[in-house]
Amino acid sequence: MNEDGVLDACRQRWACKKFDGRSIPRAILLELLECARLAPSSFGLEPWHFIVMESPEAIQKLGDACNAQEAVYTAGAGIVIMVRSARHYAPDSDFINQRASRFPGGLDAFIPDYAPYHAFLSQSGRLEGWARAQSYIACAHIMLAAAAAGIDSCAIEGFKDEDLLAVTGLSEEDWMPGIVTVLGYAAMPRNARIREPLAGLVSFH
Ligand SMILES: Cc1cc2nc3c(=O)[nH]c(=O)nc-3n(C[C@H](O)[C@H](O)[C@H](O)COP(=O)(O)O)c2cc1C
Repeated sequence: MNEDGVLDACRQRWACKKFDGRSIPRAILLELLECARLAPSSFGLEPWHFIVMESPEAIQKLGDACNAQEAVYTAGAGIVIMVRSARHYAPDSDFINQRASRFPGGLDAFIPDYAPYHAFLSQSGRLEGWARAQSYIACAHIMLAAAAAGIDSCAIEGFKDEDLLAVTGLSEEDWMPGIVTVLGYAAMPRNARIREPLAGLVSFH
């Protein structure tokens, strides 16, 4: 892997807890959002919506919803990743219809694969967790792309669902909070990366 590759971005990224408040150029934000758009999602459903909070008022409200974390109040921008609420994943929903119709073979090819998995997720109480998990993958794409672009970031899971929903203005009927990532320019020394050695985390079979 060369110096500009993904491994380099993984080494560059760290969880910054205090930014200097400078805003993020729109061109960079769009590049990060494009990386999020290209993230994989289960069954290719792209269940997300990305809400960019960049005005001082929006960032203040986001910080209030995220347990008053300094990383949020001082960020140049926050991206709230929302995912569709549980009802949208029903095999006969308009949402599934629209998404599935884009794939080769359309709905007729999609549903026989998807419906049993949806039934399994519903019956095992995993549907909401499954939907929210998709947002973490998009979040990781954003944070690595940010590192590659020289932007610091922090994933933020410390928020109250109802407060975050209120900040986004989206309806609880249709959307659930996934995860937030904040972006900016560090106003603190870089934290050391504390990690277990690879040998203790991996087995090959
Ligand atoms: C899913 C997730 C949620 C997180 N939520 C928060 C958070 O709410 N507040 C915070 O300060 N850091 C949060 N973090 C950052 C972690 O604390 C940080 O990534 C971890 O300590 C490792 O540090 P490093 O990323 O600098 O190596 C979160 C990280 C992840 C992956």
